[in-house]
Amino acid sequence: MAAIVLDGKEIAREIEEELKGRIGDLSKDGVTPCLAVVIVGNDPASHVYVGAKERACARLGIRSLRVDIAPDAEYGEVVSTVRRLNEDPGVNGVLVQSPLPSGMDEISITDLIDPIKDVDGFHAQNLGRLVQGDVSGLLPCTPAGVMRMLERAELDLRGKRAVVIGRSRIVGMPQSLLLAQRGVDATVTIAHSRTADMADLCRDADLIVAAVGSPNMITAEWVKPGATVIDVGVNRVADNSEKGYYLTGDVHPDVLDVAGALSPVPGGVGPMTIAMLMSNTVRATEMQH
Ligand code: GUN
Repeated sequence: MAAIVLDGKEIAREIEEELKGRIGDLSKDGVTPCLAVVIVGNDPASHVYVGAKERACARLGIRSLRVDIAPDAEYGEVVSTVRRLNEDPGVNGVLVQSPLPSGMDEISITDLIDPIKDVDGFHAQNLGRLVQGDVSGLLPCTPAGVMRMLERAELDLRGKRAVVIGRSRIVGMPQSLLLAQRGVDATVTIAHSRTADMADLCRDADLIVAAVGSPNMITAEWVKPGATVIDVGVNRVADNSEKGYYLTGDVHPDVLDVAGALSPVPGGVGPMTIAMLMSNTVRATEMQH
């Protein structure tokens, strides 16, 4: 039997509807949330993501401010841009799009962002709160979006085995913490490029979250029948189309025939990430007023 498809677009629409009410309440107090996005260089995928963030802001009536910095800019220019945005009372959320050009330290730039404006949730203070079990603050958008998807599907993860493939600070690590938190109570294994028995681990899992960046890596043979599979991968594969590539996830399409529930690419985790960024921007604005 084919898996239930977890429709991220639809859930993101519901989140946006809920946010519109809160944005309306802020506007009654004369406040319009404002998200500033700093983009350094010409990474094509980053420009696509930032465009999607700007369109979401426009749909919701959130002001968006974009700061483009040349790929060969000095590190100091990025630092002074972040400091200026921190000090600007009209800016409620600040994010620096990843990846930065090679040689620029992403973690030290992230830690310069005022934690109350850190809508990516990557600042050491916000990630630290998550480690302490406090999930009431600004949480990383992709993992928080995955949690909303799982909640919406009413999947009970208590005592279940979850495998998170990938250990990045953007997805894998915070995802593992969110799945293991009290109240969710999954038993989490973090798998990565040095994991020896990946296929066996996955076959035992009730939930697989794939965030590797390797097209179609998780095949049907790796998936226990009925398991939930969340595909965080967004991979560009070259083809002869006008664009020159197509998008595919980390999960092979055949998994649809084995899994109980599957998030598609595109239309799964991607829209959820944007919705959670909008949610963090509104939350940051509410915390600041
Ligand atoms: N690059 C890929 N995903 C993200 C994200 O969630 N935030 C930022 N800042 N950069 C990214």
